[in-house]
Amino acid sequence: MTATGSMEIAVAVRPFGRLLAAQILPSCPRFRAPAAVGAFLVHGRRFSKRTVGSASSRIRAAVAPAKDEAGISDSRRLSTATGPLQPGGDRAFERIFVQGLAAVKPLVIELVEPERELLAEVMVEKEEEILERVVVKDAKERKETADEKEAWRLLKDAVVSYCGSAVGTVAANDPAAEALNYDQVFIRDFVPSALAFLLKGETEIVRNFLLHTLQLQSWEKTVDCYSPGQGLMPASFKVRSVPIDGRKDEVKEVLDPDFGESAIGRVAPVDSGLWWIILLRAYGKITGDYTLQERVDVQIGIQLILNLCLSDGFDMFPTLLVADGSCMIDRRMGIHGHPLEIQALFYCALRCSREMIVINDGSRSLLSAVNKRLTALSFHIREYYWVDMKKINEIYRYKTEEYSQDATNKFNIYPEQIPSWLVDWIPEKGGYLIGNLQPAHMDFRFFSLGNLWAIISSLTTPRQAEDILNLMENKWEDFVGTMPLKICYPALENEEWRIITGSDPKNTPWSYHNGGSWPTLLWQFTLACIKMGRPELARKAVDVAEKRLSDDQWPEYYDTPTARFIGKQSRLYQTWTIAGFLASKLLLQNPEMASIFTFEEDMELLEGCACSLMNHPRAKCSRRALKPQVLI
Ligand code: GLC
Repeated sequence: MTATGSMEIAVAVRPFGRLLAAQILPSCPRFRAPAAVGAFLVHGRRFSKRTVGSASSRIRAAVAPAKDEAGISDSRRLSTATGPLQPGGDRAFERIFVQGLAAVKPLVIELVEPERELLAEVMVEKEEEILERVVVKDAKERKETADEKEAWRLLKDAVVSYCGSAVGTVAANDPAAEALNYDQVFIRDFVPSALAFLLKGETEIVRNFLLHTLQLQSWEKTVDCYSPGQGLMPASFKVRSVPIDGRKDEVKEVLDPDFGESAIGRVAPVDSGLWWIILLRAYGKITGDYTLQERVDVQIGIQLILNLCLSDGFDMFPTLLVADGSCMIDRRMGIHGHPLEIQALFYCALRCSREMIVINDGSRSLLSAVNKRLTALSFHIREYYWVDMKKINEIYRYKTEEYSQDATNKFNIYPEQIPSWLVDWIPEKGGYLIGNLQPAHMDFRFFSLGNLWAIISSLTTPRQAEDILNLMENKWEDFVGTMPLKICYPALENEEWRIITGSDPKNTPWSYHNGGSWPTLLWQFTLACIKMGRPELARKAVDVAEKRLSDDQWPEYYDTPTARFIGKQSRLYQTWTIAGFLASKLLLQNPEMASIFTFEEDMELLEGCACSLMNHPRAKCSRRALKPQVLI
């Protein structure tokens, strides 16, 4: 858990910088009106302006480069870019496009009264349509259980308001524990809340959340004189009341983000931007309100995130290189390098962006970079992260120190690395994606979130996806036991725990991130099961959870190999536990709604992979050229 508090590392967040940034944002902004770009092409499909668009065409948007008191424009004050912009060239263009537009002040939409009314009507109609589609069906078919009723009450109590509008949910509402930063809105924690609200037809809170976090993206952020990239989304934010300059006893509300500068270990929230993109697509798909993603500021937000993720580095792999603790597991757990969780979310966010980026001269090169990365990433993961009985046997017989382009053991993995638990544990049928891959290093632990999102986003082949679920079913006691779902399997113990976690007392074996069980993973398991046509498996897990969650007061996590105890330092009334339970239930009642998050296999991307794998210039690019394990 991240927390503000005593730190050995001095943090230089200039208070006045924050204040300035707060002043860039109107203290109580309105986001009612989408600044749509009209008819457009997304991923080859033509979209026209929808009902909301007709209102938006008459909306005046105020866009101006922001300047601070010293007259320094935001592009310089907020940017970390040092090099000159190069003329021409694809990559150069992306940078110019994104950096140029980043100087733009967040859109402040001015609506004249009749337009506001018209828009309000349109929004109400839209909400009614969604209610009709989702909630009404639910209400007609079944009554909420007592646990569901309680969960809804708790979820509503967790809602955070900013200037009179709901903008998110706190991480936990545990009256008995010190708040630390659990009273903040975490980006990753809000996703299941958002899903529950969307499935209930309550869309406004999600829209507000998306737009407010977008504004925080361009906040000035500094850790020890260093500013992380512009596209970074915060891990969390808090609504604070600050005195209004010169006015006695008067306060205004401001949003105060944490980009990791206060977090324990100063971990970078790499997953936040990826979750934001994933949620943005889901919002569009369920509401049919695509004007949100068409907005200029939203398009810039997507591009800033992609720019950060796609920027050139020293990498030899298409996977994203990150520091330890950069995702849900936000402490040292030996997941630095190329952890699966980040790769699966990255792949999913790229696929979402590919659908949402408005095609124009400015975005064409970015889209091409997205496509190339998707192709390379799916090949890399399917080929090198996959293990099953057959593959482990291959690794067991690997030759090492192969110096050549066509080495079998490309990463120089020493067979001695195969852990003894795996030899007995891996079943004849079934397999999974390993946790991490680096030179001479395979982390054979099973990480649930990464494997589940690899299924949801079609990062795996359909057969691999089936095999992962088969494995989870096969090893039910290990993954579910008395509470779904194990965050990773197995736990690090003894010497490994000492060396890899740095003797972390919170991450002792079978607790918290080290083999603890997290009920919030249930909604992601449900999505994966529904996608693979196996809702009964999800239902079985939900039934297990329902037996205990309410009695146990909705804990954050459970301990022990079969999740028998409530976690040692677990919060109670943890919002993503509550929301994850509700979202799972609603998804099982409306399985077609899973498609707001899922993706099907995309043959175009796979063909791209076949082409780049075939070195021969005259070789024909075709699906047949693909190795079977990459395709099925
Ligand atoms: C813990 C979790 C993190 C979560 C946060 C708030 O730190 O590790 O993933 O976002 O709590 O619930």
